[in-house]
Amino acid sequence: MMGYQAGVQDSRRTDHFGKPLAAHVPPELLRPIDWFGDDPFAIARELRDEVPLVYTLRNAFLGQSWVPARADIIRKVAGDPALFSSRDQSGFAQLVNETWQLLPLEADPPEHGFYRKILNPMFAPPAVARLTDIVADRAKSLVASFAGDDGCEFIHQYADIFPVQIFLDLMGWPQEHREMCQKWNYALIHAENPEERAENIRAITGYLRDIIADRRRAPRDDITSTILSADIAGRPISDDEALGMLTLLFGGGLDTVTAALSFQIWALAENQDLQQRLRNNPEEIPNAIEELLRYYGLSVNHRRATADTELAGHQIKQGDWISLIWAAANLDPTEVDDPDLVEIDRQRNRHMTFSFGPHFCVGNHLARRELLYSIRELLTQLPPFRLADPQSVRVCGGATFAVNRLKLRWD
Ligand code: HEM
Repeated sequence: MMGYQAGVQDSRRTDHFGKPLAAHVPPELLRPIDWFGDDPFAIARELRDEVPLVYTLRNAFLGQSWVPARADIIRKVAGDPALFSSRDQSGFAQLVNETWQLLPLEADPPEHGFYRKILNPMFAPPAVARLTDIVADRAKSLVASFAGDDGCEFIHQYADIFPVQIFLDLMGWPQEHREMCQKWNYALIHAENPEERAENIRAITGYLRDIIADRRRAPRDDITSTILSADIAGRPISDDEALGMLTLLFGGGLDTVTAALSFQIWALAENQDLQQRLRNNPEEIPNAIEELLRYYGLSVNHRRATADTELAGHQIKQGDWISLIWAAANLDPTEVDDPDLVEIDRQRNRHMTFSFGPHFCVGNHLARRELLYSIRELLTQLPPFRLADPQSVRVCGGATFAVNRLKLRWD
C-alpha cells in the first residue's frame, strides 16, 4: 500500500504528536506521506510527477514538515545553513530529555567547522587508504563464510555485519560488541515507536559514556582519544560534545552502509546483464557503485527555517521543518537524464546521496571503499547470483531506507 496518492490530501488535521496543522499551510498541500511504512522511492517518484513541494503531518520524528520534491529546492535548503538550520534535526537528545547535539551534523557554521575539522583528517582519502587491508580481509572472510553454500540471506549474513565489523576496527572497540551494536543501531534508525528509540539512545549513550570515561583516564591511539584531545575554539572539548560526535559516527556510519550494500546487491541480483558486465570488467565497478548510489538515495535529513521565507512560492514560517529526501533530488529529471534508468556510463553523476552543502558526508570515502571491496569480493567468490524469492524482498522507510530481506541463490 503506497503512502502517497497524487492529489489526495491527508484527511487528518493533527500531526503524530497531536499538534494541529499549522495555520499558514494551505490544506491542498497536505499529503499522506508515511515513509516509515511505504516504499520511499515510489513516494519520491510520485511526488516528483505532481508538485514541487508538499506538507506532511506524518513525520514520525518531527510531526509536521515540508517535503520538497525537486533538486533545486533541496539544494537551496541544504546549501543555506544560515536560513535553514540543522540543529536538533534527529531529535535524539530531546527524546531522552538531554541537550547534546549530534556533532557536526546538528551544528551550523561557524560552530560546525570546529567539529568537522576534527573528523576530516580521520576520514580523508589517505586515512581511508590505510584501512584497505582491514576492509579487504573482512570482506573476503565474510563472503567465504557462505560462498560454499548454494545461497544466502544477504542482509543478515553480510550487509548487517560487515559495516559494524569495520566500524569496530576503526574505533578500536571490541568485536565481541558487534551484535549488541548492530541491534542498537537498527532500532535507533528504524524504530517508529519513540519509546523504543529512546530506550536505544539510552543504551548507546550509556555505552559511549563509559568509553569516554575510560579514554579520559587512559588515552589510547584511537579515534575516541583523538576526539577527546581536541580543542574547540581555544577550550577543551566537553564530554557532551564528544558524546555527540561518537553517537553520530555510530548512527551515521553503520546503517547507511548496510542499506547501500543491500540496494546495490539487490540491483545486481535482478540485473544479470549488469552483473555479468561487472564480472567481465571489474574496472567498471566504481562507476556502477556511483550510479547505484544515485539510484538509491537512501536517507532523509531535516532543516528548520531560522526566519520567515518562501519556497516554491509558498510561505515558510520561522521554525518550520523541511525534510530533505535525497532520493527525490537524484530522481529529478531536470537534474538527471532518464533518472529511472540505471546507466553506469553516465558522464555526469553529481548525486546527493551523501548530501549537499556543509554537511556533505564526511564518511563518503570510507563508505565507497566498503562498497567497492564488498562487491569485488562477492563477484569473485560467488558464481552468478539471483534473487531466490523475488516476492519476499521488501523496502522499508525510516531515517535510512532499507531492504529487510534479500534471499540470494547461485547455480
Ligand atoms: C553509503 C553510506 C553513507 C551514506 C548514504 C551517508 C549519508 C550521509 C548524509 C546524507 C549526510 C548529511 C546529512 C545532512 O545533510 O543533514 C551524512 C553526514 C555524515 N556522515 Fe554519512 N553516509 C554514509 C556513510 C558514512 C560513514 C561510513 C560514516 C563514518 C563512519 C559517516 C559519517 C557521517 C558524518 C560524521 C556526517 C556529518 C557530517 C557533517 O555534519 O559535517 N557516513 N552522511
